[in-house]
Parts: sequence; C-alpha cells; structure tokens
Amino acid sequence: MVAENNGREARLARQFIAAALVAMAGISSAQAQDYPVRTVTVIVPFAAGGPADITGRIVVDIFSRHLGQKFVVENVVGAGGTVGALRAARAPANGYTILSGHLGTNALAPAFYPNLGYDPQKDFEPIGLTAEYPELLVVRKDFPANNLKEFVAYAKSNPDKLNVGHAGLGSVSYIGCLLLHSAIGIKPTMIPFTGTAPVLNAMLAGQVDYECDPVLGTLSQVQAGNVKALAVAAQKRSPLLPDVPTSHEQGLPQFDIAPFYGVFVPSGTPQAVVDKLADALNKGLNEEAVQKRLADLGAESVEQSRRGPKALADLVKSESARLMPILKAAAEK
Ligand code: MLT
Repeated sequence: MVAENNGREARLARQFIAAALVAMAGISSAQAQDYPVRTVTVIVPFAAGGPADITGRIVVDIFSRHLGQKFVVENVVGAGGTVGALRAARAPANGYTILSGHLGTNALAPAFYPNLGYDPQKDFEPIGLTAEYPELLVVRKDFPANNLKEFVAYAKSNPDKLNVGHAGLGSVSYIGCLLLHSAIGIKPTMIPFTGTAPVLNAMLAGQVDYECDPVLGTLSQVQAGNVKALAVAAQKRSPLLPDVPTSHEQGLPQFDIAPFYGVFVPSGTPQAVVDKLADALNKGLNEEAVQKRLADLGAESVEQSRRGPKALADLVKSESARLMPILKAAAEK
C-alpha cells in the first residue's frame, strides 16, 4: 500500500514538474508552430516619439503585416532603458513579449550597472538588426557655438554652465556624449530623461543646452532650424544633412558612434518562434517602403549578410568587446 502510494506520488510529482517546465517555457512546440495566435507586446524601453520608439513602431508594423497578428508597442521607461529590458528578459519565453532594444540595453549596459539583473548576451535570443543611425551633436538654437571647434572652446571655458540632456545612464545618447566629453576633457552636468524625445522638448524650451542623439531624433527640428546640429559623429556626412560636417572633419574622431537597434526575445524562446520573427523582420527590411522610411530617418541600409539572429549575436559581441574598454576609460577620466 505504502509502495503504491509512493509510486503515485512520484508520478504526480513528475507530471507537476513537466507541467511547470511547459509553463515556464510558456509555449509547447505545437503552439510555437501556430505562433502568433494573440496580440504580441513589443517593449520599447524609452519614451514615445524618440529614436527607439520610432524604430520599435517600424518593427511592430513589419511583424503585424507579415505575421498576421496584432503587435503593439509598450513603452517601459527608466534607468537608461534597462527597466524595460529587464522586464523583457524576465518575461515568459513564448514570443509574446519582445524587446526592441539597442546598443545600450543589449550590449553595453553592464558597463554602467554592476547589478543589472540580466545578462545581455545570455538572457536574450537575438532576432535581427533593424537599423543603425549615426549620432548628432545638437545644441539649442541660441547656443553660442556654430561648429565643433567653437563648441569645444565654449565648453572648456564654461564647463559649469553646461546642461546636457540624455535618456539615462547607459542610453546611447548618454554614451555618445560620454565619448564627446572624454575627447574634449570636460565633465558637464548630465541630466537624465526617460528618452530623448523629452530631451528635445527641454532643449526647444531652452532648459537643456545640448544632446547627442541618433540622427532621427532631432532631424526635423534641425531641418526646421529650431535647434542646431554641430557635428555628425561619423566618418561620412549624412545625406539628409549634407551641410553638417562630421566629427572626423572637425578634428574629433573619438566622437564616432552609430548605435544599432535590434529585436530580441528572452532566452529559451522556441526555435520555431525565433525563425518566424527573424523571417518576418527580414522580409520587412526587404520592402522598398520600409527601406525608404529608414533612409528618410538617416539609417544606413542593413545588407542581407548583416540580417538575422547570428549576425546580431555577433554584433552584440563585437560591439561589447570594442566599446566596453573605451567606455570604462571615458567614465574614469
Ligand atoms: C530614445 O529613443 O529616447 C533614445 O534612442 C534612447 C537612447 O538615447 O538610448
């Protein structure tokens, strides 16, 4: 009798563990084949209206059209995007919570947060690169400098007066200006916001002096003359702003950054789901209308060989290895 009970208990325990494992994975292989059968949340870890949000909405549009299901953006902001990234890392690995992350959240965050709560390389499965945009140094309209040389001279003689807006420690706007500041040798006041869309508003209101942001963030306001772009942080000028010289042309090649934006799912997501998302993203990026939209935002086109999970995993690794030491040195200066 006791042996019979023990046998039944062991069987129940095994069934319980199996059910718990399926629940943890969040999806069975049959469900993975049918994916997606309900609305999918795409976490954008920064405020609405900025580069991350605009890029995340392009991703949502691609997935919705190619996978025949509703995909929606949820802006989960805070701590340079790491609040949203952590939420995505801890979500069930079932494809129903996706992260539209970037160089900061998915590669460099550990340089800034010793207790991050997730490992960008272990806790996420890459889906694919969406876009890369060079950053711009943009100052308020009445800032007393019209090029990088004048900016450096002003910044060096007025370091205490400068207010820099950024999207939080470890965000790409933070990282961009960190590279700029370390090249110049200044440490101005860095003011965190939940994204660079609110930074731009503060700059338009004259409350912030400047920011370093991927080109799409300020493009229309630069073109309208409401803020001034002093430098493209790249070797090549942007075709959208042909009159804005690069940092290299202006003698500050260390200010060079074109952060990637990409799609990630929690580690352990079934391969069938990863494949479906990667395929849909690839198809979307092949569309002429999507390519035009990204080009109009200042992105360089992502050629086929740089698409997909493996290429994004490699990019995360190589950008981490390349930039971590530079950032650590810049932060310690
Ligand atoms: C944004 O969308 O607010 C920025 O791209 C975030 C950032 O600076 O990392």
